[in-house]
Amino acid sequence: MSKIHAVITGIGGYVPNYVMTNEEISTMVDTNDEWITKRIGIKERRILKSEEGRGITYLAEKALGNLKLKHEFNPLEIEAVIFATTTPDYILPNAASLIAQKAGMTKAFGLDVSAACSGFLYGLEVANSFISSGKYKKVMCFSGDVLSTVTDYKDRNTCPIFADGCGCALLEATDEPVGIIDSILCSEGNVEHLHIYGGGSINPAGHETVDQRLHYIWQDGKIVFKHAVSSMSDTSEKLIKRNNLSLNDVDWVVPHQANLRIIDAVTNRLGIPMDKVMVNIQKYGNTSAGTIPLCLWDWEPKLRKGDNIILTAFGAGFTWGATYLKWGYDPKD
Ligand code: UT7
Repeated sequence: MSKIHAVITGIGGYVPNYVMTNEEISTMVDTNDEWITKRIGIKERRILKSEEGRGITYLAEKALGNLKLKHEFNPLEIEAVIFATTTPDYILPNAASLIAQKAGMTKAFGLDVSAACSGFLYGLEVANSFISSGKYKKVMCFSGDVLSTVTDYKDRNTCPIFADGCGCALLEATDEPVGIIDSILCSEGNVEHLHIYGGGSINPAGHETVDQRLHYIWQDGKIVFKHAVSSMSDTSEKLIKRNNLSLNDVDWVVPHQANLRIIDAVTNRLGIPMDKVMVNIQKYGNTSAGTIPLCLWDWEPKLRKGDNIILTAFGAGFTWGATYLKWGYDPKD
């Protein structure tokens, strides 16, 4: 019997309507468009305002609507919903159960995956394991964040970077040699350099945690930067080698969009030219678990069946990794 693969058969994405420019950020903290463009590579980012909607499942529903424009499916056939996010609507219930209900995927069970910016890779790994085990045939994987809800707009080290957005991928079983081929996922407990200290079981939410601004993301940017470059390039290189791919065989690299200089450094180390690298950080910023599916959604019209794609990410945890997938379909009308 041939091996069962999990292949992406539809991709969707959504970013909120509100455009926050570098000029607007410059009215909140001591920074400017030139610094942000040069040091991070972001020109503008999308922010979910309450006038438009609230919560990650709002963005997820919109992303799913965009997936359905090109790929119709019966929601009752979805058996599992995975949601990679660190900004669920509530601490509980999980976001996957809520979006499954909203979207009519009522036969599915839902679970959230918490791996910060590496969320999509972790979510794909879970979906791939479910499907390749033979037990499930159709799994919906959402991945995104509403980072504006945990961003300190008084901290110039973080507020220019973070943004809101969500993607989703439908994964189905196939016996064709396409889909998720291999992955390397890693984590290393490190709370010191990238964290949200407040609201968990060590520092439960209270007046004190709010007064100390503990509910916002804090990072030591330089340390995170260095780890991101070495971890993403090392895992991608290992994955490319162990699958006997030459650099010519790689059609696309999809790096997590945290900083254009990180993307440049990783792809330089790999020896991959920039015309094979998906980059949309300039218009969407860092949407954490949302960046990779949003790239795939943006580039979907250019992807061809059989394209070799390397996804790579790094985020809080630290979590990181790389996934090798063979694209499963030609562009749809
Ligand atoms: O998604 C995964 C999580 N996050 C990341 O991957 C982000 C990783 N880190 C980074 O992207 C970068 O480290 C940052 C964008 C956060 C910072 O850039 P940097 O080039 O590493 O700057 P730095 O922290 O070394 O600071 C250089 C200078 C400092 O001034 P002095 O001490 O040299 O006078 C900072 O105070 O730039 C200053 N600075 C700013 N200046 C204007 C820091 N942030 C800003 C700012 N505007 N927004």
